[in-house]
Amino acid sequence: MGKIRVAVIGAGGIAAAHLRAYAAHAERCEIVGIADVVESAAQEKVATYGGQIFRDGERMLDAVKPDAVSICTPPKFHLPAVAAAAARGSAVLCEKPPARNLAETEAIVAATQSTLLQFAFCHRFHPPLRAAQALIASGRLGCLVQIENRFGMRFARAGSSWFTEADIAGGGILIDTLAHSIDIFRALTGGDEVESAQAQVSSALPIDVEDSASLLLRSRGGVLGSLNCSWVTPVSEAVVRIYGAEGQAVLDYNAEAGLRYRLADQDDWTEQRFDEPDRFVAQAGHFLRCIETGEPPLVGGEDGLEVMRVIEAAYESAGAQR
Ligand SMILES: NC(=O)c1ccc[n+]([C@@H]2O[C@H](COP(=O)([O-])OP(=O)(O)OC[C@H]3O[C@@H](n4cnc5c(N)ncnc54)[C@H](O)[C@@H]3O)[C@@H](O)[C@H]2O)c1
Repeated sequence: MGKIRVAVIGAGGIAAAHLRAYAAHAERCEIVGIADVVESAAQEKVATYGGQIFRDGERMLDAVKPDAVSICTPPKFHLPAVAAAAARGSAVLCEKPPARNLAETEAIVAATQSTLLQFAFCHRFHPPLRAAQALIASGRLGCLVQIENRFGMRFARAGSSWFTEADIAGGGILIDTLAHSIDIFRALTGGDEVESAQAQVSSALPIDVEDSASLLLRSRGGVLGSLNCSWVTPVSEAVVRIYGAEGQAVLDYNAEAGLRYRLADQDDWTEQRFDEPDRFVAQAGHFLRCIETGEPPLVGGEDGLEVMRVIEAAYESAGAQR
C-alpha cells in the first residue's frame, strides 16, 4: 500500500504532538489536511507539517478523503467528528477522554463498527509503562496489591479555557486527567477490571468544575487503586507506584530512570532508562500499523467504554454536578 493519507481535526496543543509523531513516520504516512475552526491554528500547523488548510472538518473530509483522521478537538466535538470520519470510511484516532460522557462514547463506538477506532490513551505507549507491565507479567513483583498514581501541576489554562467549561469538557480534572489514570490502572491490572470506584472532588479555584480529585478503585481481583490529581498544586508530579507482594516499582515521568523497582530480596533499587521514541510517536506508529495490517488497536472502543463507566461511577459517588 502507498503512504497512508492522514488528516487532523482540531489544531491546538495535542494536535502538535500527533503531527510531530506522524512526521516521525514520514515514510509510512503524509498529512493531507488540517482543520480548525480557528483558521490560523490550522495554518500554523500546515506551515510545518504540510497538507491543506480547512476551517470545517467535514468539508475537509469530503475534499481530501483521508485514510485516517486524528480527532484533536475538545471532547464536546469528538462524537460529531468521529461520526463524520467513520461515515466516510476513515480510520479514527480519537483523543481522550473518549467523549463528555458514557452515552456519547457508546455513540462513538456504534458509529465506528465498520472502521478502525483507536482511543489516544497515550500512556499505553510510554516505554516505562510497557516495561512495568512486563515486570508484572513476569511475576517478579508477586501478586499486585496496590497502585498509586498522582498527576499534579499548576494548570495555567484552568479558568481561562474550555478545560474548565463543563459543557465542552464533560467535567473538570476528573474526566480530563483521571481518564489517563484509570486507563493506566487497567493497563497494569491487565484485564482485571474495576468493580468499585469512589471519588471525592473539590475546587480551590473560582471555577464551575472540580480542579482536584481523588479516586479509590478496587479491581475484581482485589487490586486497590489510589488515583489523585490536581490543577492547583505548583510542583509538577507524574508518578505511578506499583506495590506487589514480592516487590514494588516506581514509574516517574520526570525522572531520568523512567522505571525503578526493588524486589523483596534486594537491598537496592534497579533502575531502567529508556531511549525509545516517546509515547506519541509509538502511539501513531501503532495506529498506522493497525491500518496497514488490519490488526486490532491496543486501545479500542471497549477500553474507552470501560474508562467512561468508571468515570461515570466516580462522578456519581462524589455527588458532583456536571
Ligand atoms: N493525550 C494527552 O496527553 C492529551 C493532552 C492534552 C490534551 N488532550 C486532549 O486532546 C483534545 C484537545 O486538547 P488540546 O489541549 O489540544 O486543546 P486546545 O484547546 O489546545 O486545541 C483544541 C483545538 O480544537 C479546535 N476546535 C474546537 N472545536 C473544533 C471543531 N468543531 N472543529 C475543528 N476544530 C475545533 C480549537 O480551535 C483548538 O485549536 C482534548 O480531548 C484533550 O483532553 C490529550
